[in-house]
Amino acid sequence: MSDQKGFTVWFTGLSGSGKSTIAEMLYHEFQARGLKTEILDGDEVRKNLSKGLGFSKEDRDTNILRIGFVANLLTRNGVATICCPISPYKETRDACRAQIGEFVEVYVHATVEELAQNRDPKGLYKKALAGEITGFTGVDDPYEIPENPELVLDTMTESPEESLQNVLTKLKELGRIQDDAVMAEADRLHSGLTDLRIADSGHVVKES
Ligand code: ADX
Repeated sequence: MSDQKGFTVWFTGLSGSGKSTIAEMLYHEFQARGLKTEILDGDEVRKNLSKGLGFSKEDRDTNILRIGFVANLLTRNGVATICCPISPYKETRDACRAQIGEFVEVYVHATVEELAQNRDPKGLYKKALAGEITGFTGVDDPYEIPENPELVLDTMTESPEESLQNVLTKLKELGRIQDDAVMAEADRLHSGLTDLRIADSGHVVKES
């Protein structure tokens, strides 16, 4: 039996802020360290575990509590678990933290202006800002910024590689990993779990 101690790294932030991209890079780092690892991505979970849920507060909370439930099962079985749903509500994130215990919250920051201008391939921000769709997080639906996250990543000023390094450094500081040097090969295989990519411009984009 493996003696790997499980923990959950929980990325929270606006749609398009870079959560899935950094999550995916981290997944490869865990794999490179021989750790058992899984990603629970908001968009992916909504295709299966949370299929049929919408974006009301109640549905978002249900989605997040399901992700937290599965993350807890994985964590207690020694998996380095990565979650990256928007998770806009503090109380619900805190409920996941309380359940899981071994919890590292990472707030991924980018402004709506930046996301609308540079990271909006599906035009969702533009539609939301124009009032054509309603209830969009950060535009006319709440996003509660974490008050005491273990780490804040500013993806407006940091490259994805810098953000990854900051996560690794924090995880080392917290005793979750031993070595914070980047280990995964530059040419990473895609996990198939997320559909985000880093464009030539350096911006985080969604594959269409
Ligand atoms: S959460 O609020 O329940 O945590 P989740 O991370 O699962 O959200 O899903 C967010 C994704 O759904 C976004 O990346 C976006 O592509 C899509 N989406 C569709 N409608 C909305 C909306 N009203 N608000 C935010 N994201 C939305």
